[in-house]
Amino acid sequence: MLLIPELSTDRLNLKVLQAEDATKVVAYYLRNQEFLADWEPVRSAEFFTEEFQKKQLAKDFELMHKGRMMRLWIFKKGNNRVIGCISLNNIIRGIFQSAHLGYKLDQAEINQGLMTEALEKIIEFAFYQLRLHRLEANIMPRNERSQRVVEKLGFHKEGLAKRYLQINGVWEDHIHFVILNENG
Ligand SMILES: CC(C)(COP(=O)(O)OP(=O)(O)OC[C@H]1O[C@@H](n2cnc3c(N)ncnc32)[C@H](O)[C@@H]1OP(=O)(O)O)[C@@H](O)C(=O)NCCC(=O)NCCS
Repeated sequence: MLLIPELSTDRLNLKVLQAEDATKVVAYYLRNQEFLADWEPVRSAEFFTEEFQKKQLAKDFELMHKGRMMRLWIFKKGNNRVIGCISLNNIIRGIFQSAHLGYKLDQAEINQGLMTEALEKIIEFAFYQLRLHRLEANIMPRNERSQRVVEKLGFHKEGLAKRYLQINGVWEDHIHFVILNENG
């Protein structure tokens, strides 16, 4: 079973949400529908409903209990509005001890170092509490903002995977960016 953490940084609280928090998640996705479209899978109309997000949050919670993923939603301290999330997906143990990292912010909050600050905390948690060995972020060559984030955090480039993920309906090349736990 995965520990279900609540983490904080200087400016942020990072929390697990449950089904009853779905309205906050829907509000985040509706506000950022256009902003996220270029970087995410095509979303159905249903995705933006409370019913869908309730089910999604319940599924996430179950996976977290099984130790297979972790998703923390981002809040500014003193504010109850979701401004993004960070996910550790596909947590694999055994001889791999690795996960895929995903993250997104609110368009109104970009370029203030907030995602870098949140990721620093999550990486520390992943390496020292979950004892993972490797985190991999996959980033499209044109997503310069996201590349800058992982560069600031010390990830290294492992290479280009051709037509790797289907983003906004197109199989897009992605660069594998990796950070290793030097103590584990
Ligand atoms: C990627 C994302 C999470 C970054 O969050 P953020 O809080 O703005 O990130 P930070 O402020 O910590 O860092 C952004 C960096 O990119 C730089 N940057 C911004 N626009 C840029 C551009 N067009 N080209 C190059 N660098 C750029 C900023 O100057 C900053 O670097 P600096 O600190 O050296 O000045 C956010 O833009 C987002 O949610 N994007 C949409 C979803 C997404 O792309 N997710 C990642 C998929 S791999």
